[in-house]
Amino acid sequence: MSEHRRIRIHALRHNPRDPASEPRLQTYELEEQPGMTLFLALSEIRERQDPSLAFDFVCRAGICGSCAMIVNGRPRLACRTLTRDFPEDVTLLPLPGFELIADLSVDTGKWMRALSERLAAWLHARQAEVDLSRIEEPMDPDLADRIYELDRCVECGCCVAACGTARMRADFVGAVGLNKIARFSLDPRDRRGDGDYYELVGDDLGVFGCMTLLGCQDVCPKELPLQTQIAYLRRRMARAGA
Ligand code: SF4
Ligand code: F3S
Ligand code: FES
Repeated sequence: MSEHRRIRIHALRHNPRDPASEPRLQTYELEEQPGMTLFLALSEIRERQDPSLAFDFVCRAGICGSCAMIVNGRPRLACRTLTRDFPEDVTLLPLPGFELIADLSVDTGKWMRALSERLAAWLHARQAEVDLSRIEEPMDPDLADRIYELDRCVECGCCVAACGTARMRADFVGAVGLNKIARFSLDPRDRRGDGDYYELVGDDLGVFGCMTLLGCQDVCPKELPLQTQIAYLRRRMARAGA
């Protein structure tokens, strides 16, 4: 007899493009292997039991953010979630708040791209042209560390899925958007000032829509200090709007 547990994965199945498709949970049973992640369990299911099961992954290392899903009620990255940390029954649902492609696969990329365009989430350099012959101004190492920490966001969408405000207001920028603005507002190379950021997030769809529910910080797989960033931005935007 095998010494390994049998686990049951209950995965949502639904194809929104097929009018005959009704959302339902499908159960797959398999033997747990040492160090098995949910990503490995799903891959085994797709290889040996059901090639039609749809889910996303790219890096398998918590870097690309594409494998986020709801695991027993909480958003997580499937590739960083060990099955041994769960009971024998694990229910998997697609992330809410994003367009469903099929089963456990959602289009976070489209949502994140639209957010980045809306927030102009790229460096607006002070000089119109970068002079490659000049050495870049040194940055205070502590500030560089703060910016680097916020740049660790992998755009997985877990914070959006866990946020009550985002669930009520589809165009709320969410913790991921506020984190982007906090990141650029810290960067001395960016020419934008508080007035510009106020235009982008100084309203109910931005920093003043956040009800400090803190689900975002609880579920962020990169453990970003989202609560601190939102409080920091709220103070700056309150001053800018006064
Ligand atoms: Fe994911 Fe955290 Fe970035 Fe939100 S802030 S998208 S939870 S990495
Ligand atoms: Fe949502 Fe996080 Fe604010 S969960 S309400 S963005 S503190
Ligand atoms: Fe890239 Fe999980 S597959 S974060």
